Amino acid sequence: MDFKIAVLPGDGIGPEIALWGVNVMKAVCEKFGHKVSFTYAPVGAVAIEACGDPFPPETLKVCEEADAVLFSAVGDPKYDNDPTAKVRPEQGLLAMRKQLGLFANIRPVETFRCLLDKSPLKRELVDGADFVCIRELTGGMYFGEKFESDERAYDTNAYTRTEIERILRVAFDYARRRRRHLTVVDKANVLASSRLWRRVAQEMAPDYPDVTTDYMYVDNAAMRMIQEPKFFDVMVTENTFGDILTDEGSVISGSMGLLPSASIGEKTPVFEPIHGSWPQAKGKNIANPLAQVLSVAMLFEYFGCAEEGALIRRVVAESLDQGITTPDLNPASTYGTREVGAWLISRI
Ligand code: IPM
Ligand code: MN
Repeated sequence: MDFKIAVLPGDGIGPEIALWGVNVMKAVCEKFGHKVSFTYAPVGAVAIEACGDPFPPETLKVCEEADAVLFSAVGDPKYDNDPTAKVRPEQGLLAMRKQLGLFANIRPVETFRCLLDKSPLKRELVDGADFVCIRELTGGMYFGEKFESDERAYDTNAYTRTEIERILRVAFDYARRRRRHLTVVDKANVLASSRLWRRVAQEMAPDYPDVTTDYMYVDNAAMRMIQEPKFFDVMVTENTFGDILTDEGSVISGSMGLLPSASIGEKTPVFEPIHGSWPQAKGKNIANPLAQVLSVAMLFEYFGCAEEGALIRRVVAESLDQGITTPDLNPASTYGTREVGAWLISRI
């Protein structure tokens, strides 16, 4: 293949981990005889500093012209602590999702055997847990009508049938390729939007007779995820619930630094770690590059390059088995971002 990749390193530790996503992609392409080229574009706080816009039109153009986007992270404490800020780095991420039509966010929660003791849950609960959360990404409260004054504020959680159907289709298809168990997570006992989700899901379920579909309220799902994570195979939910549940899901594996994600939809797909920009770690060579590297594995797999993806997963697992890890996984480790990255390349 001939890959044209847009690289959006963003803020904080973003550029440090983007480097290893790019290096791993180069090494794998070389090994398998693919061509690859990278075009860099600003997003988040760095883009605000440069031009006042966290997702400038030139960055959109670079994304639209690419086969895939490798995204790292956005966010800067300067804006977090200023509720009056007119523009925020996170708006860059939201604008990218909306403008590329990325309605489906796929967040796998996998566990690594050698890290089981890092999980806050008991080993026997986590060992073998393996599920995927499909989060709706361009609707709901994130994008619904908003109002904000000193006395009153609201966000609207609006969903159309079309928006619900297309994300459910992604989820049913995913379940088909896995263990054929789909859990639709909602709050249909309280929310009108959730009742529409449930109704549409119940209408679609008979088209997927090979998939066992069940329905769970989000509060119950949050509990079940820590009581019995192995219950889940594929879960699908709306934007805000998905945001919260996937952070919960990420700690099950022992470190947020390990989980990649894919966002797909109408235009160029985006592959990114689920962790944030960790500004305190910027420039210290301590950020864990693995979630970014695993997002490159997801990228290859998306394009049908299963062997390439498998190779990346194998070297990542090997690095963990051999203790070649950043300090988030082992405080005594002498390996930093660069050393882990270089080790992975040497194994590829
Ligand atoms: C995520 C992040 C974003 C979200 C923020 C940075 C806007 O938390 O990707 O989960 O809330 O969607
Ligand atoms: Mn989040």
